[in-house]
Amino acid sequence: MGNDLIWSEMDEYFIDKLIPFDSTLQHVLRTNKEATIPEIDVSPTQGKLLYLLAKISGARNVLEIGTLGGYSSIWLARALPETGKVYTLEVEQEHAKIAEQNIRHAGCQNKVEVIVGKALDTLPDLKEKGVTPFDLIFIDADKPNNPHYLKWALKLAKSGALIIADNVVRNGEVIDEKSKDERVQGIRQFMDLLANEPRIESTAIQTVGTKGYDGFVISVVK
Ligand code: SAH
Ligand code: DHB
Ligand code: MG
Repeated sequence: MGNDLIWSEMDEYFIDKLIPFDSTLQHVLRTNKEATIPEIDVSPTQGKLLYLLAKISGARNVLEIGTLGGYSSIWLARALPETGKVYTLEVEQEHAKIAEQNIRHAGCQNKVEVIVGKALDTLPDLKEKGVTPFDLIFIDADKPNNPHYLKWALKLAKSGALIIADNVVRNGEVIDEKSKDERVQGIRQFMDLLANEPRIESTAIQTVGTKGYDGFVISVVK
């Protein structure tokens, strides 16, 4: 695909012009690499999109499903007021440990709580913990569970909340209804739920750049 290079170079150009050099986030990505955490965090331009969406919507209480090394958690935390909070769910103990280190390094430790366990096991506890409802929910974990995550998001979101889901394009594989990839099928089921869900208004944006060809669904809960 001949366009990959120009898309990536264009993304680098936007990063250069629009995202001030940030030694903290560089350190986070370096730490992840050294810990051999997969390099599947959102890109800088995507991280900044999450940050701007959180700011524009005045979000204070955020839920993230899928922490990895905390890169997107830090972007989201930075968009919140001092008293704001990101609850981020992660199944891998090792990812959570690195994320906590990174979050501390970024000075966001008072704004981010990493909750370790399978999201479907930890989501039910959030209500009892008294930390719901949420203003913004970012779904970015295991794709086969996306339909379940959407149902939970609708349960835990405020009226007017944003729900954002990553990886809804997967290099265009998501339109392959016969795909044997359970991640693709998870996204397709998630899209089918959205298609029939009157409580939510949504759009999708396709993204190209340093993380290849992918996209976000962005929704507002009525
Ligand atoms: N949001 C991150 C990237 C997340 S990658 C960023 O942009 O920086 C997806 C993460 O979801 C991985 O760390 C993976 O371990 C985690 N994950 C996978 N299955 C999960 C589950 N069932 N519950 C919680 N987290 C899960
Ligand atoms: C995968 C997951 C992600 O969240 C991502 O941004 C890219 C890839 C994956 O599971 O393959
Ligand atoms: Mg993702």
